[in-house]
Amino acid sequence: MNEPRQPTCILAIESSCDETAAAVVRDGRRVASNVIASQHELHEEYGGVVPEIASRAHLERIGPIVDRALLEAGIDLEDLDAVAAGVRPGLIGSLLVGVSFAKALAWSRGLPFLGVDHVESHLLAGLIDRPEVAWPAVGLVVSGGHTCLYELSGPLDLRLLGATIDDAAGEAFDKAATMLGLPYPGGPELDRLAEDSGAEPEVELPISLMRRDSLDFSFSGVKTAMLYAIRGTPRREGGRTVFERSAEDLAPKQRAVLAASFRHAVVAALVRKTTLALEATGARTLLAGGGVVANRLLRRELEALAVARGLELRMPAMAYCMDNAAMLGVTAHERLVRGQRDPLETTASPTTRRGR
Ligand code: KG4
Ligand code: ZN
Repeated sequence: MNEPRQPTCILAIESSCDETAAAVVRDGRRVASNVIASQHELHEEYGGVVPEIASRAHLERIGPIVDRALLEAGIDLEDLDAVAAGVRPGLIGSLLVGVSFAKALAWSRGLPFLGVDHVESHLLAGLIDRPEVAWPAVGLVVSGGHTCLYELSGPLDLRLLGATIDDAAGEAFDKAATMLGLPYPGGPELDRLAEDSGAEPEVELPISLMRRDSLDFSFSGVKTAMLYAIRGTPRREGGRTVFERSAEDLAPKQRAVLAASFRHAVVAALVRKTTLALEATGARTLLAGGGVVANRLLRRELEALAVARGLELRMPAMAYCMDNAAMLGVTAHERLVRGQRDPLETTASPTTRRGR
């Protein structure tokens, strides 16, 4: 049964990786503002996020971003009921900027502080602007840093079913895109190449399933297979590894086929493990969140899975798939209305509370 929604107005702050974000969320479901400043341009030349650069940029941007979130929501600090921040997981130096800012603001205004889990919040993004979820649900988080499956019996009752033992799916997409010579961050570029070219996944790459009944993921094998498919079999020469060719030697058609093949292998692994989780739990809803949910093949496959199994699929709107603070506001609301608060001694942690 849906309980009446308790009115709340929460400012949430996100700084776990390379996005500085702030949002004002009303009643745990309505987003009054959602401001995101990406740092992609600062990390582009390094081909990945440089932690020191990320935390400095958060520090410079956090004040103006919070101001803008309040302004766009049309509220003052007096209107807030709580301040929340993502406290885990993420880059510790980056997390500390948002957490310290949120705690200082909460303390100075005498407001409750809530430190929330970033990965779990990716799933609750599916609750924004939507009716209540039919529980239990299976939750799939696929992002640049995480690939996890959960069973949820309520918005805050999560049980971790499986996670990646090596690369996250988004990280694998980004690395494969770099191998193909696509610009950073490559996940969306690889998806675009596969989609727009209409290429078939003709190259057989391993679909990593681990043990048949395992709900863990592994993407290192498909990544290595992709490297060899692009550059040929490596050999040792004078103490160095030498490949047969470079990515520039590929014809555009070959490049597109490889992009489609990689996308197919990663999505197939995600969908098969999600199917196993649905069978194991008898869930009525499938929640999917994280940046990789932007992948068009994954979206289509999850839609088909939900139709085939007669369950409701919740994929957040694009703005709430990528890293954002609104999703943290949803989790904070659920905790606030249950009387939960976190002490100001709370600090950031690089891992989730479940340790992965
Ligand atoms: O959730 P997110 O914004 O940040 C993390 O928490 O990591 O996810 C970013 C990740 C990146 O690895 C990016 O390449 C990937 O999501 N991504 C995609 C697509 N759009 C974003 N991967 C595959 N296909 C896409 N369309
Ligand atoms: Zn994320």
